[in-house]
Amino acid sequence: MRAKYLKPAILAILYIGSSHWSGLALAQNADASNLYKRSLAATCANCHGTDGKGVIDGGMPLINTLTSEQMLTQLKAFKSGAREGTIMPQLAKGYSDEQLETIANQLGKK
Ligand code: HEC
Repeated sequence: MRAKYLKPAILAILYIGSSHWSGLALAQNADASNLYKRSLAATCANCHGTDGKGVIDGGMPLINTLTSEQMLTQLKAFKSGAREGTIMPQLAKGYSDEQLETIANQLGKK
């Protein structure tokens, strides 16, 4: 008779145990994905300044005035060759469309 009550209790403990760990794994994944997004966007800071708040009159266009959508359009135009430039065409070609989207979402004006 005792085993009948014990079994659900053990199952419950196992369940709580595993959901706790999967919750932790999710949190770690979210951190890693945030870090990935920020490090992709950090490449741009060398020229455009942190978060696109460029150096005014530094010769580099400010990009924090663009919305994510506008930025993605420009990045894709650089990548396809539709828009010419000195640096950006080469740079944009180094990223997948998904990465450009991630960068634009990260840096675009909210
Ligand atoms: C080595 C310097 C350099 C780096 C790094 C750089 N850019 Fe640029 N960016 C430029 C220059 C210079 C231009 C002007 C166009 C050209 O000559 O290529 C420009 C133009 C742009 C424009 C167009 C702005 C407008 O007003 O239309 C966008 C958007 C942009 N960059 C986004 C980015 C993003 C996003 C990154 C990071 C993936 C990045 N840039 C990294 C130098 C840089």
